[in-house]
Amino acid sequence: MRILLLGFGTVGQGFAKLISEAGLELLGSYGIRPRIVAVADRGGAAVNLRGLDVEKLLQTKRKAGTVAAYPDHGKPGVSGLKLVEEVPGEVVVEVTPTNIRDGEPGLSHIMAALKAGKHVVTANKGPMALAFQALMELAEYNRVTLRFSGCVGGGTPILDFAGKCLVGDRITSIKGILNGTTNYILTRMTDAKLSFDEALKEAQALGYAEADPAMDVDGWDSACKLVILANWVLERKVRLEDVEVKGIRNITPEEIEDALKRKSHVKLIAYADQDTLRVSPELIPLGHPLCVSGVLNAVCFTSQYAGEETVVGKGAGGAETASAILRDLINIKQAASR
Ligand code: HSE
Repeated sequence: MRILLLGFGTVGQGFAKLISEAGLELLGSYGIRPRIVAVADRGGAAVNLRGLDVEKLLQTKRKAGTVAAYPDHGKPGVSGLKLVEEVPGEVVVEVTPTNIRDGEPGLSHIMAALKAGKHVVTANKGPMALAFQALMELAEYNRVTLRFSGCVGGGTPILDFAGKCLVGDRITSIKGILNGTTNYILTRMTDAKLSFDEALKEAQALGYAEADPAMDVDGWDSACKLVILANWVLERKVRLEDVEVKGIRNITPEEIEDALKRKSHVKLIAYADQDTLRVSPELIPLGHPLCVSGVLNAVCFTSQYAGEETVVGKGAGGAETASAILRDLINIKQAASR
């Protein structure tokens, strides 16, 4: 399986490490041998149709700041879009930073890949939240697969749970913590009495926050994930502009203390049903399934027959999100061999 990897930040690097470490096991257990033939970042690209060496890619990125300095195969200034159009491969893994203004460059990457007959796996929430229906239709029209597990819940299979484990039932509402960074910040403000800024710095150092952390703290990252869930799980045709959004920037230490007195924690909660799409801080009682700490995400699905089911897991991080991308690749391979 030849892979074009677009974006080489926390998630892109995590993915490259994962497939290099999992190598033989992937072949033995799933019959796939992923080979990264092209990588693009802001500085340019590296291309080798026989496969790029992951260790060398990571080292080059560390030393030079861009994969374009990769020995012999570096291509300064060459864009991800050009790779999609010119480099042969089965799958494009799109993990450039989320941009919710116009979805770029991810949106163009994904559209070009689908039109070129390449499967796409993405963890980029911008294009999916801005153009979910259009992209799914484009994939169907071109008879390729677009998968996006890493967009919601980091490595936690939230979309898979809703899509596969509750077949035959009908999910009527979704309520949960969809952003690891804000949960981490609120937890550290509660448990260690850190200030908002101190806690945010920690979340950034741990690689949880978006390139622009305003996305996290102002609620937009949660809103993107809610839109993806609402389209995928509730079959609503909604976009980011349909979500009512309030973030956690103005939460004060006094509000955190007040919540504690009421045996509750402040959490940034996303909620969707057939009428509502909302992200806002709420008090969650201690002991409630959604009252989880640190970088954890927790999503409670209410369904017509099975009632309430809650999925909990680490919601951010390079290695975790990379594991969701790998799941998608394996699913694509399995679907192709059926
Ligand atoms: N910044 C995101 C979060 C990353 O903190 O949840 C995972 O989508």
